[in-house]
Amino acid sequence: MNSALKEYLTVCQTRVEQALNARLPSPAILPQRLHQAMRYSALDGGKRMRPLLVYTTGQVLGISAENLDAAACAVELIHVYSLIHDDLPAMDDDALRRGKATLHIAFDEATAILAGDALQALAFELLAHDASLQVSPQQRLQMLTILTKASGSQGMVGGQAIDLQSVGTELTLPELENMHIHKTGALIRASVNIAATAKADIDSVVAKKLDHYAKCIGLSFQVKDDILDEESDTATLGKTQGKDLLQNKPTYPALLGMAGAKQKAQELHEQALLSLSGFGDEAQLLRDLSLYIIQRDH
Ligand code: IPE
Ligand code: IPE
Ligand code: MG
Ligand code: MG
Ligand code: MG
Repeated sequence: MNSALKEYLTVCQTRVEQALNARLPSPAILPQRLHQAMRYSALDGGKRMRPLLVYTTGQVLGISAENLDAAACAVELIHVYSLIHDDLPAMDDDALRRGKATLHIAFDEATAILAGDALQALAFELLAHDASLQVSPQQRLQMLTILTKASGSQGMVGGQAIDLQSVGTELTLPELENMHIHKTGALIRASVNIAATAKADIDSVVAKKLDHYAKCIGLSFQVKDDILDEESDTATLGKTQGKDLLQNKPTYPALLGMAGAKQKAQELHEQALLSLSGFGDEAQLLRDLSLYIIQRDH
């Protein structure tokens, strides 16, 4: 990763950390244990890829970061809730997340379920009410619609349902792609599209290109997640390595082999770049992020 990109990632990560910290309920107010659990999972960890995409898409379109803090927090909160539930014994049964104990281990299962539920509700509350988001009511409604669809049974939750139901079965490539597009791609795609919605007069061709870019990187993100599960190590990942194979999950490396999975990630990156071919230097960070997604080590 070039040093300019590294610095940019750090600036955005610090920004979203502060924005989340300011918006999460205080651990001192009732119910304290629930609020502590929400903060345990949402603060101090993760790559913050989805907020990064919100801010960066905004930058390309001339929308300020201040105006996008609530949206950046909203997509991250949905993501954190999905991770908490993904790690539960009833789902992937993981003990390590972002380098620390998963929420149901550090607290308890019921608290983990409830903290996930509450983080999800907070995400929608922010898009509906946060005063720093200065857009029209129509734009807010559009943002809410994008996030609800991306999160629900036709989005992330639907993808998670397919994931669980597919354990031990052999999916075809289109079926695997469909699962990944939903469980991970939908929220990444929504992150770009919510930021694009903040530009009231966005050209429909520009919006379409950004959407296509987001669709490609949403899928490449999960392809790379599958690759890392096999190739990386627990300390680097901050989550237990090798779980997919152990739990017989359908993944890209399992279906295409490691070389095939890497080629797929590369092809998706190239398609993402193609989607941005009509953009100039102002979209360079989006190109860099696409490359980062397929080259990252965790
Ligand atoms: C992991 O997401 C789960 C997937 C959706 C693939 P990330 O790789 O974005 O996890 P964090 O946020 O950096 O911890
Ligand atoms: C999780 O996919 C996707 C969501 C949480 C929606 P994984 O189960 O592969 O994510 P990790 O590998 O546990 O982070
Ligand atoms: Mg999972
Ligand atoms: Mg998992
Ligand atoms: Mg994984």
